[in-house]
Amino acid sequence: MDRCKSDLKVLPAGCLLALARTLSSGQILSLGDLAARMDLSPEAVGRGIDVLKSQGVKVIEQSGAGYRLDAPLDLLDGDRLRRELAQGAPGLVLELVDECDSTSSLLASRLATATSGTVLTCEYQRAGHGRRGHRWTSGLAASLTFSLLWRFGGASTTLSGLSLAVAVAVSRALERLGLSGISLKWPNDLLFRGRKLGGILIEVSGSPHGSSNAIIGIGLNVRLPAQVHAVIDRPVTDLAEVASAGAGNGNSSPLPDRSALLGEVLTALAAMLPRYEQAGFAAFRAAWDERHAHRGKQVRLLRDNLTVAQGEAVGVAEDGALLLRTARGLERFHSGEVSLRTSGVGL
Ligand code: BTN
Repeated sequence: MDRCKSDLKVLPAGCLLALARTLSSGQILSLGDLAARMDLSPEAVGRGIDVLKSQGVKVIEQSGAGYRLDAPLDLLDGDRLRRELAQGAPGLVLELVDECDSTSSLLASRLATATSGTVLTCEYQRAGHGRRGHRWTSGLAASLTFSLLWRFGGASTTLSGLSLAVAVAVSRALERLGLSGISLKWPNDLLFRGRKLGGILIEVSGSPHGSSNAIIGIGLNVRLPAQVHAVIDRPVTDLAEVASAGAGNGNSSPLPDRSALLGEVLTALAAMLPRYEQAGFAAFRAAWDERHAHRGKQVRLLRDNLTVAQGEAVGVAEDGALLLRTARGLERFHSGEVSLRTSGVGL
């Protein structure tokens, strides 16, 4: 709590989670109580409460008495996760921080010293980024945002199918938890009913011929509050919706907590990565094609917002390239170059 000590009138960066935890004490606390417990000014606490509300955190205000959280936050349980990883994914080392701008940027800043298998996750990612400069917006304790460093012995040219293999591992993990109906959009999105559920961003460094480092950044919407939905400018959904839809038979399945979700996904990634190193994307191609959201559909490929090709999405090649049947015949496209749009509604 010491790092939050301040007499400023604004909440110091990195203290939002500390405030949320103090508000979850079970007691109703006045601004003065909260300020005393956190060594902050009452103004800073008031500003912090406004930020929590804007994040969709339900802060109950009891007139004259003070504040409390309506329900406990679904915070990650680091000890439980580490025990689970020791069993199912001993190659991974987990680091959990309350807040950061971007787990991928933070991990990249530690690239020189971090060991392969380091996973960095946070409760609140303030400025996440996605492919092609897009923002990645997540909710406080309402999303999973994490990055995994994996050092590959092979050249970076062998990693063109990695984001697709990651998508297969993530969707398999979610399916094991009873979350079914998730499909994959080439090259790196997880969809449910045509709306975006998660995204994968792989940042590779190293030489095209020698060894390479991949920072695998993954964002998954778990239970996005309306306030967070409202600031995202594309159709999105969350795992809460997948769970309540059930297996399409009207039987909804309970949504596991964020720790259970993260544990299962990390276990799947830890199994997938050595296999990818040995066999490449070819080992995951069929599983990707089974989940392909656009197989047999008419799609357009864009580069810098201009259509560069259109045709029927047929599937993916052994290196992860998209196979598109166009007027010119069967063509292959690599993900660095283009993004995909459907001809109809949705993503
Ligand atoms: C995309 O859909 O364009 C990829 C989104 C990737 C978001 C994740 S969240 C964790 C990691 N940190 C980031 O800043 N980005 C990735």
